[in-house]
Amino acid sequence: MEILHVDHVTKTYGKRGEKQYQALKGIDFTVNSGEFVAIMGASGSGKTTLLNLLSTLDRPTGGRVLINGQDNSSLKDNQLADFRSKQIGFIFQDFNLLESLTNRENIALPLALSGLTPNRINPLVNKIATRLGIVEILAKYPVEISGGQKQRVAAARALVHDPAILLADEPTGALDSKNARELLETMADLNHKDQITTLMVTHDPISASFASRILFIKDGKIGKQLLRNDMSRIEFYHSLIYQMELAE
Ligand SMILES: Nc1ncnc2c1ncn2[C@@H]1O[C@H](COP(=O)(O)OP(=O)(O)O)[C@@H](O)[C@H]1O
Ligand SMILES: [Mg+2]
Repeated sequence: MEILHVDHVTKTYGKRGEKQYQALKGIDFTVNSGEFVAIMGASGSGKTTLLNLLSTLDRPTGGRVLINGQDNSSLKDNQLADFRSKQIGFIFQDFNLLESLTNRENIALPLALSGLTPNRINPLVNKIATRLGIVEILAKYPVEISGGQKQRVAAARALVHDPAILLADEPTGALDSKNARELLETMADLNHKDQITTLMVTHDPISASFASRILFIKDGKIGKQLLRNDMSRIEFYHSLIYQMELAE
């Protein structure tokens, strides 16, 4: 089943009459239920711009984005927040945790904002925290935990409402290599075992090699795609490096 459908999406920054820059030049792709897709491209290729359109944080200049069959350009601003809080989970490079809240409160926040009562919220937070191995740090504050733990708390916040798709923008960008690898293994495990449909953008081939399909983005356009099929992650990584060499 198709979870995400991106149809001729363009994005131009700058108002008419001002200096304009076309960051996305017509993007088309789909993501099916249960897939783990990586979009890989150099800095400035348009990855964050694209994810912000998919997550409804920003609107495309042209084209359509459908999530679970719903065209989010047809939604008004007040409906967008509701749509986002039901359908989308988002992990940012810099965690975006609120420092004044405990980790438990950070994870609970999207549910509290959508009006759930604490007796409904607490079991959901406990369940996702158990899944991500962060139960012992729920009462602590973000400043009291490591970067790797912060990104797990952010992942728990992104998944606690059981979204249709998890979107991740360079989720390992602020982590050391050990924590980065652990997070990627967790994301791959969530995808395999819990069928979390995932779209991650990254400039890093190691991160991309954890996905089952890689799309390449360059200068605001999607080029070819690479399928993992039955390759091991290491084999997929090597085939990815080979493709990058060919594209030089
Ligand atoms: N708000 C903005 N206004 C103008 N140009 C922008 C804005 N955001 C991004 N850009 C430009 O769009 C291009 C793509 O940026 P971005 O999507 O952040 O790329 P990436 O995430 O792949 O590094 C870059 O050239 C960037 O300078
Ligand atoms: Mg970016």
